[in-house]
Amino acid sequence: MDSLEPFVDRLPIPFVLKSSTKRRLPGAPAQLVPYYRLAMKEIRAKVHRDVDPTRFWSFGSTFPGPTIEVQSGQAILVEWSNELPHKHFLPIDHRLHGAEAFLPEVRTVVHVHGARVPPASDGYPETWYTAGKFRTSVYPNNQDAAMLWYHDHTMGINRLNIFAGLFGAYVVRDRFEAELNLPAGEFEIPLILCDRAFDKSGQLNYPVSPREGNPWVPEFSGDAFLVNGKLLPFADVAAKKYRLRILNASNARFFNLSLENGPDFQQIGSDQGLLPKAVSMKTVRLAPGERADVIVDLAPCRGEHVVLRNDFLPLMQFRVSKTSAIERVIPQVLRPVGRMKELEAARTRVLSLDEVRNDFGEVETALLNKRHWHEPVTEQPVINTVEIWSFVNTTDDTHPIHLHLVRFQVLDRRAFDLYTYELTNKLEYTGPAVPPEPGEEGWKDTVRAFSQMVTRIIVRFEGYTGRYVWHCHILEHEDNDMMRPFDIVPNSGLRSR
Ligand code: C2O
Ligand code: CU
Repeated sequence: MDSLEPFVDRLPIPFVLKSSTKRRLPGAPAQLVPYYRLAMKEIRAKVHRDVDPTRFWSFGSTFPGPTIEVQSGQAILVEWSNELPHKHFLPIDHRLHGAEAFLPEVRTVVHVHGARVPPASDGYPETWYTAGKFRTSVYPNNQDAAMLWYHDHTMGINRLNIFAGLFGAYVVRDRFEAELNLPAGEFEIPLILCDRAFDKSGQLNYPVSPREGNPWVPEFSGDAFLVNGKLLPFADVAAKKYRLRILNASNARFFNLSLENGPDFQQIGSDQGLLPKAVSMKTVRLAPGERADVIVDLAPCRGEHVVLRNDFLPLMQFRVSKTSAIERVIPQVLRPVGRMKELEAARTRVLSLDEVRNDFGEVETALLNKRHWHEPVTEQPVINTVEIWSFVNTTDDTHPIHLHLVRFQVLDRRAFDLYTYELTNKLEYTGPAVPPEPGEEGWKDTVRAFSQMVTRIIVRFEGYTGRYVWHCHILEHEDNDMMRPFDIVPNSGLRSR
């Protein structure tokens, strides 16, 4: 892939999915809501002019799938149908929990990452269904404007299904955001980033471990970077302000994005919507699952080529036109985000992030609080209460931790002494608490828990009672037990566990 000519393919923009009909909302039969249908299919797509079409599994007939766009407060129904083949084309590890050899190879279940939905529509990993089947989910969309994303969430093979291409963007809009007069239409561009590896014939190449019968690898990282499904695309743009909605849809890759010969980014939003105020930055960092909403002002770059890069590698090129136009003003004050107070928390949970190594020092599995997926539920927050979750990362990796259903705020990060912790289970801090980064000052749903640090988040468990999951968004970790169920329980007057 190194020898490919850069910037020969135009950046594709996933089309916005249309609903063809309205249907009654289950449980509220008087209400007719837009009904969407999206089928998961095997497709072939061109990732580059000089590469033969690549097999993907995608939603609809493009990779990535179409964008679903909704208005806050307007519920929709989506029928997710599995029209995939009966055999998987990527290496399933039957030793992983939930991917045993007696199960069908091709299984799917769709989760909308960041959506506030009832448990039955959340895409619980064990509620998968096979080729030829479908499921209809309801999305109430009672939440602030933000870019969410839909993706597969099947137990034990999620990393393979997403790697195969099963994801797309889900954009929530609202009146508040509309009144900010942000760049819209052709001036708002979603950038869905992921890394992949390809073989010589242009087909997806997912690595396997050298261990017989146990192909799982602890992390995938590839040498080819796709932006909206293309390698090194270009976009013809005006010398104006653009709003880029960036999503890191990689399995395990962290991005450090910057613009070569370009302006700084003005970050205006993160995972769960707008920041309280715009923040200027040279580099936008995104872990798998995270999103950034940024404004780039290309007016000073008239007639130039601006390259979006990850570290020093080019990802895509913006070709800025020679003419300029009257420009809009981006408000510096965006959506107020009231900081949650630690005093509000009914309890604090200290949860470790661990890796288990075998006798050869290889990572065998990754765990949350030393528990496997199938063990009884241990996190049972009471509905409408606030908790602090304190992630104690004992590993050498950063783990992006995602909680379903809820949005949260990052409190701080703090280094601790690993040796003391492992010996006595006590936290001895070795440095001051570090406040959240400027781009983390808003509502989040995925947080980078840094190596050998305690990362604290504060969460109000609101919306619905029932069973959800929390997990590491490095998909290889998630599939190998770095995922746990949690229950939001009704307020019964009894004390929570
Ligand atoms: Cu983006 Cu549980 O996932
Ligand atoms: Cu992880």
